Amino acid sequence: MRKVLLTGDRPTGQLHLGHFVGSLRNRVALQNSGDYDCFVMIADVQALTDNFKSPQKVRDNVYEVALDYLAVGLDPKKTTIFIQSLIPALAELTIYYMNLVTVARLQRNPTVKTEIQSKGFGKALPTGFLVYPISQAADITFCKAHVVPVGEDQLPMIEQTREIVRTFNSIYGDVLVEPEALIPSDEKSRRLPGITGNDTKMSKSLNNGIYLADDLDTLRAKVRQMYTDPGHLKVSDPGKIEGNTVFTYLDVFATDTAYVAELKEHYQRGGLGDVKVKGYLLEVLDGILAPIRQRRAEYAKDPAAVYEVLKEGTAYANEVAAATLAEVRAAMKIDYFG
Ligand code: TRP
Repeated sequence: MRKVLLTGDRPTGQLHLGHFVGSLRNRVALQNSGDYDCFVMIADVQALTDNFKSPQKVRDNVYEVALDYLAVGLDPKKTTIFIQSLIPALAELTIYYMNLVTVARLQRNPTVKTEIQSKGFGKALPTGFLVYPISQAADITFCKAHVVPVGEDQLPMIEQTREIVRTFNSIYGDVLVEPEALIPSDEKSRRLPGITGNDTKMSKSLNNGIYLADDLDTLRAKVRQMYTDPGHLKVSDPGKIEGNTVFTYLDVFATDTAYVAELKEHYQRGGLGDVKVKGYLLEVLDGILAPIRQRRAEYAKDPAAVYEVLKEGTAYANEVAAATLAEVRAAMKIDYFG
């Protein structure tokens, strides 16, 4: 039997290059390997846990994220793309799993802990936000996923899911599958910095991102703004590679490593200007982004067709969920009428 793969994103904004190297391109490769039954979820319920006052934003971004998925090469013939809120079984599983997790354990989840601080919830922490890792366990287990390709920040979520699965199976019998996280093997791809410097991760909220939907002019402007070496004032000055975002990006995206090594050497020696290196980076990035941008524009011409993809994926996900739920209910002895 083929293994099952599931992953997803919160629809709170368009997807950017950080998502692309940290997760999207990996997903597309796994999809095309033919080794997995693939599910990719647009996690609107989870997005609402910290955006419940902005329903229109979440709704709009369900569509944007779907476009990004199709643009990078997720293929609805190979991958079930679906909307979380339209799978009622996920809410039901969440309720059952809640019994298996203490409040203290949720508060210790490192990702949740950082988010609570960064979002400034203080004492006004919504219950829905605190329990989203439980809902994420429902997302992963409804289709009995074996592997979950995600960014590094999601490791605590997978660990928490594994605990829930072990607890469930030990109480009710062997029904659920303990998933494994898959993170990019290449360390540099795990945490792409934003354009303002290597210390900060690319993130929507920090406004330092390059988006898959950015047009060429926007891309050019962002590359031009990119943080380099503030001490490299004249072209003839020797420049630093460490902490220089342009070189960090070249390491991640350029395939001609010999040429990159040559540029680095020249830059450190002096005589190579930022404008030239940035020109090359623009070429490299546009080589990756231009086909994505074109496919995105193509799909954007027919929004009804994009929604149809989501509708069909959601219908299939509901079938899979119904099968798992029947097993869960039987194991929990709440299958009263058979
Ligand atoms: N928490 C993930 C994120 O913020 C999104 C997500 C929701 C997810 N459910 C999931 C990821 C299930 C993997 C598996 O990016």
